[in-house]
Amino acid sequence: MVSAISIIGLFALTGFSTSYTNGTKELVFVQTLWRHGDRSPTKTFPTDPYQESAWTFGGGGWGQLSPTGMKQHLNLGKMLRSRYVTDYQFFPTKYNAKQIYVRSTDVNRTIISAMSNLLGQYGQDDGSSVADVDYPAVVGWPKGFVPIAVHTVDDDTDHLGNMESTCPFREQVWNLAKTSDEVKNFTNSDKVQSMLAKLTNYTGETVDIDNLWIITNALYIEQIYFNDSIRTKNSWFTDDLYAQADAINDQVQLYQNGIFKNMPNVVNGHDVGVLTRKIRGGPILNDMVMHMNIKLACQGMTTPNCTWINNLKNYVYSAHDTTIYAFFSALLIEEYAVKPSGGYPLYSAAVLLELYVDSADKKPYFKMIYHEQDGSGFKTITQGIQGCSSDYCDLDVLRNFSATIQPDQPIDQWCYSDLNKYSGVSTVSMLLIAVILAVRNDFFGLF
Ligand SMILES: *[C@@H]1O[C@H](CO)[C@@H](O)[C@H](O)[C@H]1NC(C)=O
Ligand SMILES: *[C@@H]1O[C@H](CO)[C@@H](O)[C@H](O)[C@H]1NC(C)=O
Ligand SMILES: *[C@@H]1O[C@H](CO)[C@@H](O)[C@H](O)[C@H]1NC(C)=O
Ligand SMILES: *[C@@H]1O[C@H](CO)[C@@H](O)[C@H](O)[C@H]1NC(C)=O
Ligand SMILES: *[C@@H]1O[C@H](CO)[C@@H](O)[C@H](O)[C@H]1NC(C)=O
Ligand SMILES: *[C@@H]1O[C@H](CO)[C@@H](O)[C@H](O)[C@H]1NC(C)=O
Ligand SMILES: *[C@@H]1O[C@H](CO)[C@@H](O)[C@H](O)[C@H]1NC(C)=O
Repeated sequence: MVSAISIIGLFALTGFSTSYTNGTKELVFVQTLWRHGDRSPTKTFPTDPYQESAWTFGGGGWGQLSPTGMKQHLNLGKMLRSRYVTDYQFFPTKYNAKQIYVRSTDVNRTIISAMSNLLGQYGQDDGSSVADVDYPAVVGWPKGFVPIAVHTVDDDTDHLGNMESTCPFREQVWNLAKTSDEVKNFTNSDKVQSMLAKLTNYTGETVDIDNLWIITNALYIEQIYFNDSIRTKNSWFTDDLYAQADAINDQVQLYQNGIFKNMPNVVNGHDVGVLTRKIRGGPILNDMVMHMNIKLACQGMTTPNCTWINNLKNYVYSAHDTTIYAFFSALLIEEYAVKPSGGYPLYSAAVLLELYVDSADKKPYFKMIYHEQDGSGFKTITQGIQGCSSDYCDLDVLRNFSATIQPDQPIDQWCYSDLNKYSGVSTVSMLLIAVILAVRNDFFGLF
């Protein structure tokens, strides 16, 4: 197929503008969603011997990116450069302010992950950038290092990147989901109850399915950094206990993202699965689809409202494992894409969403690629999405998914509506989801 690939370079006002094509499909836009790299715990349980002072890297304290995390993103940045600059010649060889836009959540580790990543993409001393044009030629400035702006928005209202943003409606939906038979059965099962009781005894706090993740996540990280002492300092820690607690937490996470075994999962007339996927993954999927729609609508246009998107080649989101998980859950591919199934996306996991236009049928297509973790390479996952039978899939499939999980109201407003007075569930959307799920179950039955 390589012979079918042609690379056309043409000179535009902004510098060297190039394009990448595979057969008749031309790449026009790339969106990247990654999670941060290796970090310290964000908090822990009262009896933990590894409290905040145990964490000294990355500025010190809870939730900071470690040097390992920085390296993971440096590597990912180099991989992105290799794909889009060297192989595809689609991104420019050096930083171009009009062609990339980076939006991070307002958290130290995601901002610094973005900076580390961009260092890999555009900050190496490889002759791509020019001293005194792209960076100052002075003693003390690393040669070739080009600082690149990382934008952010207030964390509390970042409903798109931060799955813990202030959103009472999301809390109400989760509280309702917890009263469904399926979640109640799970929570009240002997397996879960005995684990929660054990952990309550060991950790010095009442453990339930909502704070379980704090314990499993702290233990996960302590096994990376204090593996030699964790078994003596937390004398109750065993690999078996950890594995069981982690598996329970994985199931909780599926529920929290609106993925139930019984679909639709209707409680008091509310489809808590659909509502959850709308409120968590809905905003980011719709944002990405909106960018692609504007990109396409602006092709060949010179109106001022098209300048920004016409120049833009790469929109980047620097966020969290929970963001990627919500995004995948919205597309019903979380188990297909994330391995092991049910687990969190690993450090520096990334989704690449490529937009193509076919010169033969004039239609838009997308390709979705996943970077599982540092060193794992890129894997095309388009075909995990229901309705996609090739690596290049009709953009309408994604548009339809985004329509079914579009928040019912502008998200800032929806977050403050009251579920008790709410009747947003239409029979039509429930039927549609039921059909999608029926087909999806057949699809996964093939494996
Ligand atoms: C080009 O597209 C074909 C299918 O249309 C695919 O098999 C091939 O892997 C693609 N090439 C690259 C480099 O992505
Ligand atoms: C950055 O880290 C410090 C120390 O943990 C913390 O106080 C501060 O709130 C963090 N800021 C952001 C925006 O993450
Ligand atoms: C919950 O458990 C009960 C009793 O075991 C069972 O009858 C019911 O089908 C279960 N419900 C769900 C939704 O799993
Ligand atoms: C509670 O934890 C202590 C150690 O912290 C242990 O000796 C005891 O057996 C535990 N009790 C139960 C019921 O698990
Ligand atoms: C920690 O040590 C155990 C053996 O005691 C080993 O099985 C495990 O892989 C180690 N974990 C890490 C993250 O190094
Ligand atoms: C840009 O503005 C024109 C009117 O000047 C409007 O017709 C068009 O829909 C707008 N395009 C986008 C992508 O907003
Ligand atoms: C998208 O949805 C529309 C309206 O329901 C439908 O007509 C169309 O066939 C769907 N397209 C794809 C590719 O699923």
